[in-house]
Amino acid sequence: MILLDGKKISAEMKLEIANEVSRLVAAGKKRPNLAVIMVGDDGGSATYVASKVKTCHEVGFESSDFHYPATASEDEILKKIEEINNNPAIDGLIVQLPLPKHISESKVIETIDYRKDVDGFHPINTGRMAMGLPSYLPATPAGIIELLSRYNIETEGKNCVVLGRSNIVGTPISLLMSRKANPGNATVTICHSRSKNIKEICAQADILIVAIGQPEFVSADMVKEGAVVIDVGIHRIPSTETKSGFKIKGDVTFDEVAPKCSYITPVPGGVGLMTIICLLQNTLLAAQNKIYH
Ligand code: GUN
Repeated sequence: MILLDGKKISAEMKLEIANEVSRLVAAGKKRPNLAVIMVGDDGGSATYVASKVKTCHEVGFESSDFHYPATASEDEILKKIEEINNNPAIDGLIVQLPLPKHISESKVIETIDYRKDVDGFHPINTGRMAMGLPSYLPATPAGIIELLSRYNIETEGKNCVVLGRSNIVGTPISLLMSRKANPGNATVTICHSRSKNIKEICAQADILIVAIGQPEFVSADMVKEGAVVIDVGIHRIPSTETKSGFKIKGDVTFDEVAPKCSYITPVPGGVGLMTIICLLQNTLLAAQNKIYH
């Protein structure tokens, strides 16, 4: 069993991005600038945003951080998005999700200029991705593709089962795994809350991608001998065994599943670290006008 080491690969990519920023700056170009809007005080979101901003600075990007109280109006947020859309100093814009219930997620996403949509959530980017045209790829699916690619894992003709159909992970990764590309060219099955025989379907998978949002959902009996398992889940589980009072678990029961796998991502240290670095990679592409000219 080989661990798909998100820590190692994200560190390599971070260095690649930092080198490219140095090259841009040496050539007299401006540093890439990522704007992050957060609304409310959700603890998980605050941790992600802090981590994104910190990594931006580590690779030499500038970042513009806009934090609003949970009571901010939809109009206020939409106005801010429009202001950033029109600000040439800012290359990429993300609005951290989830948003408070009184703010429409789809309105927010559709207000972002698709050319600055480095989360790849705008329908134009989603549609272009589905058609195999150049677009910003959502960061978590892009991180999974990078891991498969950098470990030279064969995906062509393989049975790939995706657990979960979210707009952020399940749906886009299923499109990327089936499209005519490498990694890609897999035969993809998506399972979700209404699927029947999930266990039997998972047990057929050569590549199992789990983004179902339930701690330790996948047990050893659901995994074929020699499978590649990608775990997108991340959960804080109360524990008396650790000083912090919690343990981090994925959607896969790692200890019993790992011995059956050819490759598996650890949690933490797998997909999570790749997500942030792929967001920065998109921001670099945006600053260089590489997707849209
Ligand atoms: N919330 C959970 N994942 C993400 C993400 O990739 N981008 C944004 N904007 N919000 C999220």
